[in-house]
Formats: sequence, C-alpha cells, structure tokens
Amino acid sequence: MAIERTLSILKPDATRRNVTGAINERFEARGLSIVAQQRLRLTKEEAERFYEVHAARPFYESLVAFMISGPVVVQVLEGEGAVARVREIMGATDPEKAAPGTIRKDFGLSVEENSVHGSDSRETAEREIAFFFSEIEICP
Ligand code: CMP
Repeated sequence: MAIERTLSILKPDATRRNVTGAINERFEARGLSIVAQQRLRLTKEEAERFYEVHAARPFYESLVAFMISGPVVVQVLEGEGAVARVREIMGATDPEKAAPGTIRKDFGLSVEENSVHGSDSRETAEREIAFFFSEIEICP
C-alpha cells in the first residue's frame, strides 16, 4: 500500500482534558508519523468553511460552536494507507458505536465531542491538508 498523508484534528474536548499526547501515542504506535502539527483556535469563519459539506445538517451550528469553544491541534499524519488507517484507529463517529480500543471509544464524550477528526478520503485529505498547511506537500 502507498505512503499517504491525511489530516487529523484533535478537538476542543481533547485539548481541554489534556489527552492530545495520549491520542498521538495511538497514531504513532500504529506506524503513523506526525509530519506537521499546530495548536490553534479556529475562527467561526474557518470552522464553518472547514465543515461546509455539513452545512445543511441539523448538527452544523452546534458543531461549529463546539469547534471554536477551545484550542484544537491540527496535524498531518503520514504512513501506509494513512487515510484508512487513521479512520480505523479513530473508530466510528459516535463513541457509543465505536469499536473497543479506538480513540473515539476510549476518549470520546458524545457524537459531537468525539475527540478527533480524520479526512474521509484521499481527495478530502488533499483539500483538508491544503486548508491548514499550504506549505506542506500533499504527497510524501
Ligand atoms: P467529524 O469526523 O469531525 O465530522 C463531522 C462532525 O460532526 C463529527 O465528527 C462530529 O463531531 C459532529 N457530529 C455531531 N453530530 C453528528 C451526527 N449526528 N452525525 C455525524 N456527525 C456529527
């Protein structure tokens, strides 16, 4: 499988509880390298634009409010089949439905406060990496 890059966001519920290091350990233990990382606060406009594909969904406004409620850590993860691997390590969106041993099962608080975001396809990864890290190559 090819070496890929993908985008992950450690969400405000993770920074608030100081579990970003524990979450990063999960990624690194599964062969993913953190090739770029920044802790920042999203503006409302950035959060709206980042999640614009969900604009029509009932949870959109609440999601945007949550994502700007505290700092996030945005990061580019690199490894074999990184897009799918990160999604496997994160687990299902709803922590209650996530498999044992996944990040969302172990750290997530609710379907909204689910600790981590990961790009859902290679195309999305390209867009999302460019959104935060214009200076980073999309491919290794
Ligand atoms: P994420 O993978 O970042 O993508 C969209 C986010 O919307 C999701 O994780 C959750 O944080 C949030 N969300 C809130 N409610 C829902 C829902 N019912 N279904 C999917 N995502 C939701």
